[in-house]
Amino acid sequence: MTEPAARERVLSGIQPSGASHLGNYLGAQVNYVALQDQFDAIYAIVDFHALTTVHDGALLRKLTHEMVLDLLAVGLDPKKCALIRQSDLPEHAELSWIFNTVVPVAWAERTPTYKEKREDGVENSMGLLDYPVLQAADIAIYKASRVPVGKDQAAHLELSREIVRAFNRRYGPIFPEPQPVFSDAPVVLGTDGQKKMSKSANNTIPIFAEPDEVRRIVQKMVTDPLRIKRTDPGRPEVCNVCQLHRFFGSDYLQIQDGERTARTGCVETKQLLAERIIEFFRPMREERARLAADPGHVEEVLAAGAAKVRPILEATMAEVHAATGIGPRGAIG
Ligand code: TRP
Repeated sequence: MTEPAARERVLSGIQPSGASHLGNYLGAQVNYVALQDQFDAIYAIVDFHALTTVHDGALLRKLTHEMVLDLLAVGLDPKKCALIRQSDLPEHAELSWIFNTVVPVAWAERTPTYKEKREDGVENSMGLLDYPVLQAADIAIYKASRVPVGKDQAAHLELSREIVRAFNRRYGPIFPEPQPVFSDAPVVLGTDGQKKMSKSANNTIPIFAEPDEVRRIVQKMVTDPLRIKRTDPGRPEVCNVCQLHRFFGSDYLQIQDGERTARTGCVETKQLLAERIIEFFRPMREERARLAADPGHVEEVLAAGAAKVRPILEATMAEVHAATGIGPRGAIG
């Protein structure tokens, strides 16, 4: 019998930044679930990264747990993938330090997200500057070759590639260059109909909110600003309520047509959207509640995930130690 070919390794990092919303789900989580069947997939909740913005220990631990529950509920299966908490594997931070010694400060300083985050008022800490170096370590420590991320992460991935090249030049070819995998999921706009749906823009539809909360949020969504009276024809191409219907039923063209011809009103189109969102996520919401009722479950999943990936990371770190001269474990060859 022949051994099955080793599957390519995929890694993504997820910030524990609050309740998962439609943008997270459609833009990333659906893709994570699909990838776990085809690849050796590792998903890391990046709590070390979160320290750059979350400064309350109890809150960070809570956000981390909630994110694990969200990811399990949408369909990540710990038997198929490894779901890990970055800080359970502190070698991520160790490798990040080692990478720091090969990364010119200018590379970190010119990262566009560094400038953007400072403009958004994030504290300008060493951690913020170093953020993409830790990200490179997250990927390289498992020699992951593919990284499913949003387009906003393109610069980080380019930097990850430069970092592993710089390391390999100095110490020999230890790390593969990771490739980003951009999903073709469309950008999901928020309830304001203007900006990308995101926690910081405060325009999200949380997928696990109680049904009445979803109804309230959807009812307040901004639609076509030029459709003022019920009898005015609408423009579904600029109405985000109409656009979101695409994801929740095959009849979205009829729905859009109803708006265009003023056969239907915004209120009923919103009501329908809210009910469809609620129904779509109902089984996941129920699964999440079931999982949350077992207080030890999240830590068990994380412990199993860490145990699964630890041998991979230890093999890499042994090579890194040997090449760099760090520690007694470097005494190979
Ligand atoms: N920077 C990513 C984000 O903000 C999170 C992240 C951390 C990540 N480490 C990673 C993504 C490794 C992909 C691979 O979304």
